[in-house]
Amino acid sequence: MDPLVAAACAARERAHAPFSRFKVGAAVEDADGRVYTGCNIENATYGLTVCAERVAVFKAVSEGARGFRRIAVVADTDRLTPPCGACRQILWEFCGDAEVVLANLQGKTETLRLRDLLPRPFDASLL
Ligand code: THU
Repeated sequence: MDPLVAAACAARERAHAPFSRFKVGAAVEDADGRVYTGCNIENATYGLTVCAERVAVFKAVSEGARGFRRIAVVADTDRLTPPCGACRQILWEFCGDAEVVLANLQGKTETLRLRDLLPRPFDASLL
């Protein structure tokens, strides 16, 4: 298995998802090959929930990592789970046109580019 997908699978086990029971794991790889993981963290207010992808990126950025090349997202679904709209925007900010590897627990995977998930993005080049 792709080690980035394996890291996202392991992170998924640590999801705090008592409300949706929908556990998600994510892992980002930086330019040096270092891997940072995240899981979704829900809250009783619901709206304060943070997705696995943003947890992974924010952890990585806060530790000084930059230049992400790939992100893996794992959920236990037949139809592979893509990042939500908010996460696509955050991923664009820090990862640019990175490879997005979607996977499930049965070993199904699909690799996309962020550009295809977020056409015509808003970013700092427009400010
Ligand atoms: N979720 C993620 O963590 N990442 C995604 O790509 C889709 C959705 C989480 C948010 C919430 O905790 C649960 O999955 C159901 O939406």
